[in-house]
Amino acid sequence: MAADQNKSDSSLPTEVDKSGMLEVLEKFPGQVAEAIDIGQSELQLPSAEGLRAVVVLGMGGSGISGDVVAALSADAGLKLPVVTCKGYDLPKFVDSDTLVFAVSYSGNTEETLDTAGQAMERGARIVAVSSGGRLTEITESNSIPTFHIPGGLQPRAALGYLAVPIMSALDRMGMVSGVVDRFRAACPMLEARLIEYGPGATGDDNGPFRLARELVDFVPIVYGAEGYLAVAASRWKAQFNEMAKVPAFHNYFPELNHNETVGWENLADVCRRCHVIALGEPALPARIEKRVKITIDLIQGSVGGVTRICARGSNTVERLLDLVYFGDFTSVYLALVTGQDPTPIARIDEFKKRMAG
Ligand code: F6R
Repeated sequence: MAADQNKSDSSLPTEVDKSGMLEVLEKFPGQVAEAIDIGQSELQLPSAEGLRAVVVLGMGGSGISGDVVAALSADAGLKLPVVTCKGYDLPKFVDSDTLVFAVSYSGNTEETLDTAGQAMERGARIVAVSSGGRLTEITESNSIPTFHIPGGLQPRAALGYLAVPIMSALDRMGMVSGVVDRFRAACPMLEARLIEYGPGATGDDNGPFRLARELVDFVPIVYGAEGYLAVAASRWKAQFNEMAKVPAFHNYFPELNHNETVGWENLADVCRRCHVIALGEPALPARIEKRVKITIDLIQGSVGGVTRICARGSNTVERLLDLVYFGDFTSVYLALVTGQDPTPIARIDEFKKRMAG
C-alpha cells in the first residue's frame, strides 16, 4: 500500500532531507569545476620517470576514485597498470617505481592510513588527496604532496574533489592527456543534467525520480559492462546502500553471464523483490548489447522489474559523470520517498567507533 502511494505520488518530501544532501548534489557541477582548479594548483609532483605502476589507496566513497581513475586513464593514454587497494595489504610489487595515490576524505580511515604507511616504508612516490585528518598530518610532516580538498561533506558526495585532482596529477606528470579538458568541458553538461535530474521538476520527465519511485520496496541490482560502466554500477550500488539504506548489488557484463544469470532460477519470492538496472551507452559493443538483450529475455520473468539506462555524453568522462549524477539523484530520491534522511550513515559511524574501541 505504502509502496503504491510512493509510486503514484509525484511530490518530493524534501523535509526528510534534514542534512541537505539535495543541495550538495545540486552543487556537483561546481564541485567538478573547483576540483579542476585544485588539481592545477602549484603542487610539486613526483617525477614520472621509470614508473611501472599506479596504485590508488582508499576505501568506500574515497576508494571509488581509484576505480574512476583506472577506468578513465586507459582511454586517456596511460600505459601503466592502475591497481586499486581497498584494504590493509599493500600489493607486494609496490616500490620506489610505483606512484601511489593515498585518498581519504576524512584523512582518518584506518586501512588507508595503514597502506599509506607501508607505501612510505617502501619508498613509493606518494601523492595524497584529503580534507585533513591524520593523513594530512603525516603527509605534511613528511613533505608528501597533498591535494587539500574542502571538508564538511560526506565522502561519497565529494567524488569530484577526490577523483579529478588525481587525473590532473597524471596529466601534469605527462602520463595521460586531454582528460582535464574533458572534465572542464563536462561541467556545462552537468549543469544541463541538473535541470533534468534535479529536484526542480519531479514529474515523469525526471528519469532519476521516476526510477526511484519504481524502486520502492525492491532490491536494486545494478549491471554495468567491463570498463567505466562497471564502475558506474558499483557507484550506484554504494549510493543505494548509503543514501537510501537499502541492500543493493552490482555486477557487470560479460562476467555475470557466467554465473549470476543462473542465480535467478530459484528463490522466486526473493527474485521478485529485485529490480535489475542495466547501465549502458549508445555505442555499447554489439556483442555486449546482444548479451544484455539475451540476459533480460532470460531473467525478465523472474525479477520484479528491469530498467535500462543509457549514458549520454560525447566521451567516456561525460558518460561516466552523467551516470554518476543520474544514480546519485536516484538514490537520494529513493531515500526521500521512503522517509530516509540520505546523509547520516549511523551504521558506518557505529562500526568505526567499535573498531576504534
Ligand atoms: C561516507 C562514505 C564512506 C567513506 C569510507 C572511508 O559518505 O562514503 O564509504 O568514504 O568510510 O572514509 P574516508 O572517505 O573518509 O576515507
